[in-house]
Order: sequence, then C-alpha cells, then structure tokens
Amino acid sequence: MVTDFLYRQPVEITFGWGKIRELPRLLQGLGADRCLVVCDAFLRSRVDKLREEIPEIVAVFSDVEENPQLSGVAEAVRLIRAHGVNAVVGMGGGSTMDTAKFAAAMAPGDGDALDYFRGIRPFPAERLPMIAVPTTAGTGSEVTQVSVISCGKEKRTINNPVFMPRAALIDPELTVTVPPRTTMNTGLDALAHALEGYWSRNHQPISDLMAVEAVRLVLGNLEAAWRNGSDRTARENMALAALLGGLSFALPKTAACHACSYPLSEDYHLPHGEACAFTLDSFVAINADERLCELCRRAGLSGTEELMDRIRALKALGGLRRRLSDLGEVDMDKLCRDCAAHPLMGNNPVKMDEAALRRMFEGLR
Ligand SMILES: NC(=O)c1ccc[n+]([C@@H]2O[C@H](COP(=O)([O-])OP(=O)(O)OC[C@H]3O[C@@H](n4cnc5c(N)ncnc54)[C@H](O)[C@@H]3O)[C@@H](O)[C@H]2O)c1
Ligand SMILES: [Fe+2]
Repeated sequence: MVTDFLYRQPVEITFGWGKIRELPRLLQGLGADRCLVVCDAFLRSRVDKLREEIPEIVAVFSDVEENPQLSGVAEAVRLIRAHGVNAVVGMGGGSTMDTAKFAAAMAPGDGDALDYFRGIRPFPAERLPMIAVPTTAGTGSEVTQVSVISCGKEKRTINNPVFMPRAALIDPELTVTVPPRTTMNTGLDALAHALEGYWSRNHQPISDLMAVEAVRLVLGNLEAAWRNGSDRTARENMALAALLGGLSFALPKTAACHACSYPLSEDYHLPHGEACAFTLDSFVAINADERLCELCRRAGLSGTEELMDRIRALKALGGLRRRLSDLGEVDMDKLCRDCAAHPLMGNNPVKMDEAALRRMFEGLR
C-alpha cells in the first residue's frame, strides 16, 4: 500500500574509490577559499598531507573524541572565526562529522555553543557550507540533519535542517584502516538504521527501497570487511550500505534500538554501533510482521528468523556484548525507564512501555 509521502534529499553525493581527490572541486563549487577541516587524532597526518596539496585548507581541528563534546564544537567555532573560514569539512566518523555540522551551523551567529545546545538561541539563518567525508561505514551522518553532541554526561541528538551537509564525499578507501572491532560496530549501526528506517512509523516507499538494499549489502559484506580490512569490494559495499542506511532513516527517523542505545551508551559505555546492535535482534522478533518478512525475502533471506540469526552471528563474530551480564551491574528499573522515555521509542511500530521493555531485557539476562 502506498500512502501519501514527501521525499527530499538535498545533499550532493560523490562516491567512489580515491574520490577524496575531488575535495578541491567541491570546495570551489561552494565558492570556498578558506576552509577548516575537522578530524580526529587518527586522521591528523592524512589531513596534514591534504593540506600540502589543497591551499584552501587554512586550519585543522583534530581534537574530536568519541562521543564528541560541546567543548570541541566551541573550539572549532573559535578557529572558524579566527581564520575567517567560509566552509567546513568534517572528515572522520560520526563523532567528527557531527562536530563539524554543529560548528558550521552556529559559527556565523552570536553567543556560545551551550545556548544552541540547550535550544535557548535559534541557529543563525546563514550557516557555513559543510562537506561530510565519512571514514567509517556506519552512521550515515553525511546525509542526515542530525548532530549527536554531549555536554558532560548529557548526550543530545539534535535534529535540525541547519545540520544538513551541502555535499557528501564518500571515498571507501578512507575506511581501509578502520580496525575490525569498529568495522563491526559501525556496520551494525548501518544495519540498525536500515531496519529502523524501514519499520519506523514514518516509513515511506523511497526510503524503504534503500533500506532493503542496505540490509542486503551489510549482510553480504560486513563479515568480509571485518575479516580483511583491505578487501576493496567489501569496503566499497559497506560504504554504500552506510550511505543507503543513512538515507533510509533520514526522513523516517530511527526507532526503539536507537532509543535504547542512549542509556546503554551513557550508563554502560557501549560504543554507538554496539549499543544499537545490543537490542537489534530482539526488536526484529518484536516487530516481525508481514512487511518485515517481505524485507527479508527481498534481501535474500528466508524470513525474520534468519535475519535474527545473522545479526546474532555477526555480534558473536565481532565479540560484541550481547547479554546484560556482559554489562556489569545493571539497574533494570532505570534502564527500562530511560529507554521508554526516549522520544525515538514512540517511532517503533509495536508500542513499548516500561513493562514491555523489561520483558525484552529479561530475555537478555
Ligand atoms: N548524525 C547522525 O546521523 C548519526 C547517526 C548515527 C550515529 N551518530 C553518532 O556518531 C557517533 C559514532 O560515530 P562512529 O561510529 O563513526 O565512530 P567515531 O566517529 O566515534 O569513531 C570511532 C573510532 O574510529 C576511529 N576511526 C574513524 N575513522 C577511522 C579510520 N578510517 N581508520 C581508523 N580509525 C578510524 C576514530 O578515531 C575513533 O576512535 C556517535 O556519537 C553517534 O551517536 C550520528
Ligand atoms: Fe546510529
């Protein structure tokens, strides 16, 4: 059944092995002659090499950490203002792209980063153009208007059109150095995006198509990318899967697995992808309906049982934490309360209150 829908995707996407060489062309297309590159410590030497070749790069901020902090955004904004920067490149995983998005959106305005984080001050009408260059294959942040930033322990997922990148430059070669554990975590994040976008209450036909293909690609390539990071085909297919996963949740938004991922990351320190994967197979079981069976068939699976088995097998292969006993001492009441209260929980097709979540987590003891 096709219902009314609106589909919009404003990001120019350049995809391909070695395409990082197109960065100068993209900057020129934006009329940008003074750009800040945001990255993390691992990417610093690579960015320094780029800087030798691309005179438009006038500043680099390389202190982005996992679960990026607002203080990093503030420092990037300081550099933007000090160097008269007119475009921002976020080159890294989701942590880096989200920092770059936030900094590019607020830099032309007044006030400090906390005002924008708290929603006290609206973002300025004019933002700096931002180019997203993902170096992990997972978040899809290169095509979403989401920025996930923390202030101390408070981690906020802020959804605002001002965060939409102007361009995404996806070069799978940049992902070759991602270690196996991060490859598995981020690949399962992409799978969660596709499945949650698909079963979201706000799903729609065009996003659905991309979700099915993303699921097919993750299941066909994640293990190979995890086993051999230099496997070019697997890396290319995972970069495409992450992109399609991003596109499949960009409008419908994610649902219960991501809702549960926040308490699991905040209180039990699971990296984002591992936290999403923790409940992914459980929610396949809970949300199994005719539509999900159809996705499974179109992705080449016999049904939802096989999808669950494949997710469990990937988690076991990657050594991810799968049971509550792997998390240390768990405060079940708080976990269920916080998961139920997360706004994304309302997007799940099956209503999940605290009691339903408790039943699910009891099954993971
Ligand atoms: N904005 C969105 O739409 C969106 C969607 C999902 C998740 N997120 C957020 O993104 C963050 C997670 O991003 P992530 O999973 O990409 O991880 P990350 O950016 O935190 O990076 C994880 C680790 O991988 C390393 N790394 C990155 N690229 C590498 C490379 N090419 N080679 C070797 N190491 C590399 C980093 O240095 C870091 O240590 C979380 O904060 C999450 O909440 C955002
Ligand atoms: Fe995610």
